[in-house]
Parts: sequence; structure tokens; C-alpha cells
Amino acid sequence: MDNAMKPMEFIKHIEHAFSFTKAHAIKMIKDFHKEMGFGLKGKKSSLKMLPSFVKKPKGNERGTFLAIDLGGTNMRVLAVRLHGEGKFETIGVKRFSLNKEIISETEKVFFDFIVDCVINFLKEYHLDSIYEMGFTFSFPVVQTSVSSGTLVTWTKGFSVKDVEGKDVVFLLDNALKRKGVKSLKIIALVNDTVGTLATKCYEDPACDMGVILGTGTNASYPEKTEHITKYKGRWNSDEMIINIEWGGFDKINRNLYDETLDRNSENPGMQRMEKAISGMYLGEIARLVVLNGLKNNLFHTKTIEDIFSSPYAFTAEHLSYIALDDYNKLSWLKDIHDLDKKIIKMIAHIITTRSARIASSAIAAVITWMDNTLTSPHTVAIDGSLFEKYPGYKETMESTMVELFGEASKNIRLTLTHDGSGIGAAIIAAIVSSSPQ
Ligand code: BGC
Repeated sequence: MDNAMKPMEFIKHIEHAFSFTKAHAIKMIKDFHKEMGFGLKGKKSSLKMLPSFVKKPKGNERGTFLAIDLGGTNMRVLAVRLHGEGKFETIGVKRFSLNKEIISETEKVFFDFIVDCVINFLKEYHLDSIYEMGFTFSFPVVQTSVSSGTLVTWTKGFSVKDVEGKDVVFLLDNALKRKGVKSLKIIALVNDTVGTLATKCYEDPACDMGVILGTGTNASYPEKTEHITKYKGRWNSDEMIINIEWGGFDKINRNLYDETLDRNSENPGMQRMEKAISGMYLGEIARLVVLNGLKNNLFHTKTIEDIFSSPYAFTAEHLSYIALDDYNKLSWLKDIHDLDKKIIKMIAHIITTRSARIASSAIAAVITWMDNTLTSPHTVAIDGSLFEKYPGYKETMESTMVELFGEASKNIRLTLTHDGSGIGAAIIAAIVSSSPQ
């Protein structure tokens, strides 16, 4: 192959294609601020800036609430007891996996399945009283109140039929009725980022951002009500948490690999930032890079082509094992040539470094939107497997903050907040229960 690139030349090409420099970050922050402003005013924007009808918790909310947490490959049902003083305990939790078939079913089959899981949970934990419930539904939803909202579009590979454009609380409520469940009342509809923010805030009042860096990505923050000029209705507080839906941000550079991934995805043209950052897509980007490497005769192992032939078969979790040189869980890669392992490791590093730098810059944009001079402390509650498990991911995010803000970056604390999407739904249900909207 005359035009084939040598390994280091290829890696340089990849580094260039995926570079996200300080200058890119600064430009991104500016664009982010513009789009946030447009979104809040109801003008055309790639940031939806969705009102959540929720304010930050005080930490003194009490009671026992149920929660459904739906938004990724697993759904969970939980019972949470809130003790006040920032303390809570999970008194029951059950995880149910959502396979490819169920997430592309019809609306009725899908919601009936969810209710079956809830019934299963109630039986197992002998919960037979009447409960108020929070429903975490981690997709872009336009809410008209804290307990109702219309799905704008599915993301993360979900494609349940006849749900887009409908009120998901109404659909869940109908399924509860169909199945004869009378003991549950859905009083709050919550995005996972809002739940994560609420959970951390319950114990740390300095928390003013909730972020998910997992299968999908998104963030929320408390906004001054007077800035949310697109909302004309009544709201009883001077602040409201906004679900940014930042996965849709479209002012980022895309390379050939991003474009290919987008073209072949279920939602071409949408969720551009999510496709560059989140766990659902990183493995697939890496696979596309490997396939290009193959065209350049880069690899020594003959079977590489077969190993990387199926779309989405290579995941962010696989990348994280590669980053750790842990081939025990990657038997199909174990026996490839050492040089090939090295190249794939470099590819993984380059792609996830870009992801962490973009994620960090997006957080920087939201924090500086709230506090331009970074004078107050900001705790950022973050959940999701990338942040929690990917080796070096958090450190790359932190070093990006230092690059951007120097000393002042000390005021930004990136903290892991486990299970916020489920517990947060219970906390928000408690807020609603004690002060009906
Ligand atoms: C959804 C968001 C969600 C995020 C993280 C995105 O695909 O649009 O609503 O918060 O994933 O789960």
C-alpha cells in the first residue's frame, strides 16, 4: 500500500483529528454561553434549557418515597427513606435490565414491562402501603409542571414506538391502572441530572451542578427565575433547576470519524456533543479508527478485522480495560500482537482524553455562567461510569480546569455522586409532597 501511513504517522493523524486544545475550550465556553442565553429566551438553540419545576432541596426533607430510575441499559426501582439533616437510606432497590427488544417495543408493552418490574419490587420488599413516587426519566422532556412532561425525542438507542410527543407520566399512570396498581402516585418527573444535583445538594448546599457522564451525557444547574424568560407561567421561587440537555450542543468540531458515526446512528444530526463524549459512543468511535488503521496496514494480527467488524460491539468498558492493560475480560483481544495492543491503547487514550476535555469545558461554561469570576465554591455532582470508572478520566477533567482557570479552579470540586438519579427522584418527590405546586 503506497499511501499507507506508518504507525506513528497514523497516531499523529488521530491526535490531530481528536485534538481539543485550550483555544477550542475557550471558544466552546463562549458558544455555550450564547446558546444557554438563547435557550432560556426560547430562541433557536442547540441547548434546550428545559425548566424542571424543581428548586434545590434544603436537606430537611423527610419521609419514605418510591422512585423509578429509567434512562439507560438498566432500570431501577427504589424505596428511599429521608431522615432530614442531609441523611437518607435506601430501604430497597432492585435492578432490571432493559434489553434491545424491550427498548424498541410498542408503548403499551414497554410501560407494562416497567410496571411489572415495580410490582415485582413491591412484592419482594413487602411494601403494601400507599406511596408517593418520583419518576426519573432521563431523556429530553418538555415539562409543563413537576409531574408531567412530553418526550421530545428518544436518545441513547431507545426507540419505543408512540411515546415521542406524549406525556410519559400519563403513559406510566395508565400502565399502573391497567395492571391494577392502586398504591402508587407519581408526583414528580425528574431528569437524572436534576436527581443527581438534588442528591448531592441534600447534604452539601455548595452543590450547584448535576452532571451525568455515562451511557449518555447531560447537566443541570439552578437558574434565576427572572432569566428564564421563555417561561411565562407562575413559579413560587426565585430559582429553578434547568435541565440543559447539553448532549445536543452542536458547536463543536467534528472529524471524519464523528461524521461517520453520526451518519450511521439512529438519530443523525442530533446529540452531537453526546456522540463525542458519552460511553455509548466512545467504543464505536475507537472501532471506526481501528478500521481506518486496518486500511493503512497498521496491524500485525490477521484477525483484527473480524474482531472489529460489528458496530457497537466494542464498548467504553472495553476501552477502560485496554487502558489498564487488563485483558482478562477481553479474551478476544488477549492474543493479538503486542504492538497492536499498544496502538489500540493509544487510540483509546486519544479518544477518551478528548471526551474528558470537552466534558470539563462544558462544566466550566456552566459554572462561569453562574459565577463569572469564580469567587464562590462550586461542588459539581457527577455520576456515570466514565467519570467513575475510566482510568484517568477525572484527572484529565481536573487538569483541564487548571489549564483554563489556574488557581481559581480550586473553587470547582468535581465529586462522584452515586445513585443520584434514583435517590434524587425521592428527594424531589419529598419537596413536592411537602409544598404542593
Ligand atoms: C438525555 C438526557 C440525559 C442524559 C444522561 C441524554 O441522552 O437526553 O436527558 O440526562 O442522556 O442520561
